[in-house]
Amino acid sequence: MCTRLGSLVTSLPEQLTSAVEWVDGPLDGHLRVIDQTVLPERYEIRVLRTVDEVVDAIHRLVVRGAPALGVCGAFGLVVGLDAARPRTLEEARRTLERAAERIGSARPTAVNLGYAVRRVVEAVAPAGSAVEVRERALATARRIQREDRESCRRIGEFGRQELAAVRRVLTHCNTGRLATAGWGTALGVVYAKALAEEPVQVLVSETRPLLQGARLTAWELQNVGIPVTLVTEGSAAAAIASGQVDAVIVGCDRVARNGDTANKIGTYGHAVAARANGVPFYVAGPMSSFDPEIDGAGDVVIEQRAADEVRRLGTAVLAPEVEVWNPAFDLTPAELVTAFITDVGVLRPPYRESIAWALEQARCQGRR
Ligand code: MRU
Repeated sequence: MCTRLGSLVTSLPEQLTSAVEWVDGPLDGHLRVIDQTVLPERYEIRVLRTVDEVVDAIHRLVVRGAPALGVCGAFGLVVGLDAARPRTLEEARRTLERAAERIGSARPTAVNLGYAVRRVVEAVAPAGSAVEVRERALATARRIQREDRESCRRIGEFGRQELAAVRRVLTHCNTGRLATAGWGTALGVVYAKALAEEPVQVLVSETRPLLQGARLTAWELQNVGIPVTLVTEGSAAAAIASGQVDAVIVGCDRVARNGDTANKIGTYGHAVAARANGVPFYVAGPMSSFDPEIDGAGDVVIEQRAADEVRRLGTAVLAPEVEVWNPAFDLTPAELVTAFITDVGVLRPPYRESIAWALEQARCQGRR
């Protein structure tokens, strides 16, 4: 199914309206998610009907990307209610809280997940019956999804204006339609440029060890006809140094009050290479990825993942006795960030002030 959107032809499978989709049933609902572990080889939809299945999907990165994790976590609580079918208000609250604890901690770095789950729990506080708990939880999950779609649109538009003179972008990991409820954050800027018929071409780093850049971003962009070239992790700095990049744009999993940014492992290296070569380095993300409770990088929990993700690449690439250090994210100090492209505007240094202002804007708009 092809839809014409300005100059951009989306030839993605029709189901890819969202990486995470809630399907209402007569008595209960379920989640349909695109299995991001098997792309681009296979396009498969998984159905999630229990909290165990939601937690497993989040752990294994079937669903991934900070905003999509928030949306999945919020609907995951409704899945938990529908699976347990609590009859009393008390039972419903207990079910929700147990599910919130499990789902909210399934991945520790992306702040969107814990934030979305907390929002749902808080939204059901005034409920007077089990039925109302479910109604409020579902309405809040839907709202989180709608807000994220709108955030992507705004980030795209702010970013397009900020990067009007930029044509060649380097990005990392996947921050597009698979990672959000909308067009994406860093990739949202790329899509916004393409939709406005501005020239844009993308270099994407493969993003070791799980290859989100190669498997997901290259797939997304190639499917809509945006020029994309893959660089290996080791070549990105050379691409920047040899003048092939006008700007680096990445997403974020958790931004501290001072602007220190946790994002996919490898981000810090791109930021250092960009600074060394006078190339601007942008972080794009909604205010739901900013954490008002964290002052700086030192307070961020970095998820460590299984060594086997690194030991094997189809076939074994490492002797089993060799130790592996496999953090999923790294921390980029605020001083390496040229600006944050957010859903409330472009934030510039000094970040303590601009982030405090943006958090207040988001709070007033009910989005943080
Ligand atoms: O481990 P992942 O694939 O969930 O990591 C994703 C990233 O690091 C993204 O850059 C970030 O979540 C922003 S997605 C809009």
